[in-house]
Amino acid sequence: MQSSLSNPLRIGLRQERVIPPQCLIIFGASGDLTHRKLIPALFELYLQRRISSEFAVLGCARRSWTDDIFREKMCQKLEKVVSDNKKEWDEFAKYLFYEPVDLQNEEDVFKLGERLNEIDQNQATHGNRTFYLSVSPKFYGSGCKALKNAGLLKDVKKSRVVIEKPFGKDFSSAKGLNRLVQSCADESQIFRIDHYLGKETVQNILVLRFANAIFEPIWNRNYIASIQITSSETVGVEDRAGYYESSGALRDMLQNHLTQMLAVTAMEPPGKFVPEAIRNEKAKVLQAAKLANEIKPWECCIRGQYGSGGNLSNPLKAYRDENGVDPNSTTETYIATKIFIDNWRWQGVPFYLRTGKRLPKRLGEIVLTFKEVPVHLFESTIINPAPNQLILRIQPNEGATFKFEVKSPGSGMKSRPVEMEFSYDESFGEPSDEGYVRLLADCMLGDPTLFTRSDEVEAAWKLYTPLIELMDNSPWKLPVFKYESKTWGPPEADQLLSKDNIFWRRP
Ligand code: BG6
Repeated sequence: MQSSLSNPLRIGLRQERVIPPQCLIIFGASGDLTHRKLIPALFELYLQRRISSEFAVLGCARRSWTDDIFREKMCQKLEKVVSDNKKEWDEFAKYLFYEPVDLQNEEDVFKLGERLNEIDQNQATHGNRTFYLSVSPKFYGSGCKALKNAGLLKDVKKSRVVIEKPFGKDFSSAKGLNRLVQSCADESQIFRIDHYLGKETVQNILVLRFANAIFEPIWNRNYIASIQITSSETVGVEDRAGYYESSGALRDMLQNHLTQMLAVTAMEPPGKFVPEAIRNEKAKVLQAAKLANEIKPWECCIRGQYGSGGNLSNPLKAYRDENGVDPNSTTETYIATKIFIDNWRWQGVPFYLRTGKRLPKRLGEIVLTFKEVPVHLFESTIINPAPNQLILRIQPNEGATFKFEVKSPGSGMKSRPVEMEFSYDESFGEPSDEGYVRLLADCMLGDPTLFTRSDEVEAAWKLYTPLIELMDNSPWKLPVFKYESKTWGPPEADQLLSKDNIFWRRP
């Protein structure tokens, strides 16, 4: 992990706000997310000197660990990061504490209150508390209730609760969960996290669109023919079968990460760069989004599940053979869908969204394909000349590419496409921070701009309701096609686009 300490250029570029005195309480501290994302992100903030000395992280889980065991476990898990920054880690580890808490047990949660008061005194955290629910989604509601009953959410200004995705499992459960958490805390205290919004490149879409005069005039149905949003992963389900089996790609990625990228790409300019103005515009565009065919949703969606693949030296298991997966599972590990946005800006422009596990490349990108020129005056040197494209690379190699035609050198007048490149890494000297670094800082600062508001979450679920109903009631109408591991999903997903004479971009 790199920090701003190692690149003075970045210090000049950042205008970072220092996080006020704070205790971050992580429920589910013995889980994956804590050591994979949260503690590394907090350590990065520490390295960036954004955390003051009046700080504490209190890990909570059912295991009967002590402060020392928690520190030791985190140190082991973050081995590489720690060994690169041993001295800083030893200092940082002093801010880590642990309390055994079962969120379902009232007595434990009351006892937690006492421990927090003690931390307030010893660490001078001024009663500012951020409760992070990194627990199974089925405990989001009861967890908030337990915190409320213990009086821990009473102070609207000083206490907040961060809720991981998926927020609900369909439109009505999301609505119910919203109602429940809003009865425990004020909406201003609730931070629904979607780590894609923390990615520098997703935020860059806003800057690219609204800090430049040249894009906005052409960012609409008059100039754009189609938009593709892809998030592909090389990894399989790993050790998360328990969660993934009941989630699948629609609930795990499409409804949240991809739909948030869609919202940021398609929203109207906000009146001001303030949280509610931005969230209003995102909510509005999601409310106008609909599946390309709501009556026959199977015509605009393809599901897939990875089969085996790889090679002799690295054989890859089929999803159904993974640990903890039902051998007859029909959970989708791939989904592609076509969406329209029914508003003045986007009417008739197809948005194709796809995500999958065990694909050939880890990739996040948004591809805006512009309309063709009205008359082709020049012959192209390539067989299938592509129209202009703006490719926003979310990850890896974060940046953007603009594809346009130039004259091919020589005596004739042939055209050929070239690319104009921007790379975060090359321009700013370092890859950008992990999404969690930004989002953890923002929630501790109380800035909700990059968190999903209740109406946005509901609109995102509503958009996929016809698909969810079909999957629940007549799943045979939305079959799960097999695809070989390390291929770009089922061939049927290609047909979804080829019907429209379009092809997925092959990076
Ligand atoms: C998580 C999903 O939200 O995002 C995972 O639950 C997925 O299944 C991950 O692997 C992808 O995140 P990223 O940042 O690696 O693209």
